[in-house]
Amino acid sequence: MDPTFRAPQGMGGSFEPPPDKSITHRALMLASLTTESCRIRRPLNTGDCVSTRHCLESLGTGFVEEEDGLVAHGVGLRGLREPVGLLDTENSGTTTRLLSGMLAGQRVFAVISGDESLRGRPMGRVVEPLRKMGARIEARQGGKFAPLCFLPGTGDLSPLEWDLPIASAQVKSSLMLAALRAEGVSRLEGMIESRDHTERMLRALGVDVQNIGKALRITPVETLPGFDMRVAGDISSAAFFIAASLITGRPLVVTGCGINPTRCGFLSVARRMGGTVEVGEDQVSLGEPMGTIRIRPSSLHGTRVEPSEVPELIDEIPLLAVLGLFATGVTEVSGAEELRFKESDRLQTIAAMAESLGGKITLREDGFSVEGPQSLRSGSVDPRGDHRIAMAAAVAGAGIPGGVKVLGFDCARVSYPDFVRDYVRLGGVVE
Ligand code: S3P
Repeated sequence: MDPTFRAPQGMGGSFEPPPDKSITHRALMLASLTTESCRIRRPLNTGDCVSTRHCLESLGTGFVEEEDGLVAHGVGLRGLREPVGLLDTENSGTTTRLLSGMLAGQRVFAVISGDESLRGRPMGRVVEPLRKMGARIEARQGGKFAPLCFLPGTGDLSPLEWDLPIASAQVKSSLMLAALRAEGVSRLEGMIESRDHTERMLRALGVDVQNIGKALRITPVETLPGFDMRVAGDISSAAFFIAASLITGRPLVVTGCGINPTRCGFLSVARRMGGTVEVGEDQVSLGEPMGTIRIRPSSLHGTRVEPSEVPELIDEIPLLAVLGLFATGVTEVSGAEELRFKESDRLQTIAAMAESLGGKITLREDGFSVEGPQSLRSGSVDPRGDHRIAMAAAVAGAGIPGGVKVLGFDCARVSYPDFVRDYVRLGGVVE
């Protein structure tokens, strides 16, 4: 599917984004680590999260579809069953890394692999600390890349003391899930400032997870209790239409959206670039706050995004590049070298996207700068199979007369299956 996206009347109105991908992954995994039944309302039922669900089913968890979500019957912290086939995590780095923490040292033999993009993403960052906890893991190139092969262990692991060298919630969460089965307290230090869904959800389940200074301390547990939760809307998905509203100048209301502060960096930058952004909380579910975000756009101007801000907006950086193309002055991002290890080398793909539209983004090793506003022209963008680039290009189309054609737009379904429907609902045209 190669649709063309445009929005001659601008984009705005009101909508509820799809359920949060990060929270859904964690809800499915935590539900499989308890033997009590769990209810997950409004989970993301597509792409990456379906990969997680299939892997967990292969490891013994049962999921029953109900009207508003799923009921899960898990196997417990040490009860994973040996899968008869390969655990296929497809395009999902979160599934691969978090599942590695769950599988480390279990009494089963299991192999995880995924698609070509996944097999090129760095896994040594979880393999090395998990091996230190006593897990026997073999992987391609001495432990660097999937397929990852988990050899049977005793069920338990040694406690871990680890300095996280990169701010990655996937790595942090993987180690936290393993630390639940350690024979003592584990301590993670260093770059622990990334999205904190795992911390919040575990705390809501009664696990002793403490931030002490710049460290995270995890006390193991014998069992986890069941839970009943509602998954918040995904702020990273909402961000596409927040950007479209800012570019085209029409107000937008986002309802039922996750507003966890460790995910809200894009809203702070949107404010700095000139938008008025109001956030109101209306409920909390399993530690995760959700509410309404109101956007009132005005003229956009460039801003500088500091390395310390990057973890809170890591998935929204392609959108910052798009906003930078339309904003007056310079927009700069640094400290974002992690983007080179996403579903594509996102810094390269961002620059190529701008070039396809007659624009120019100057790349650096750890970020980019873009001077706007640029006179962009209608064109075709190849997102190289990367969902966030495909949707960012569609947002650029909202601001370019004649629009943007996105090649292979189907890749967007891993996180936002109804993107085209919402694009049209909010005033855009897709042909
Ligand atoms: C995620 C963490 C981030 C993010 C990804 C989802 C998670 O990745 O980019 O989309 O759910 O933990 P890193 O932890 O690799 O930065």
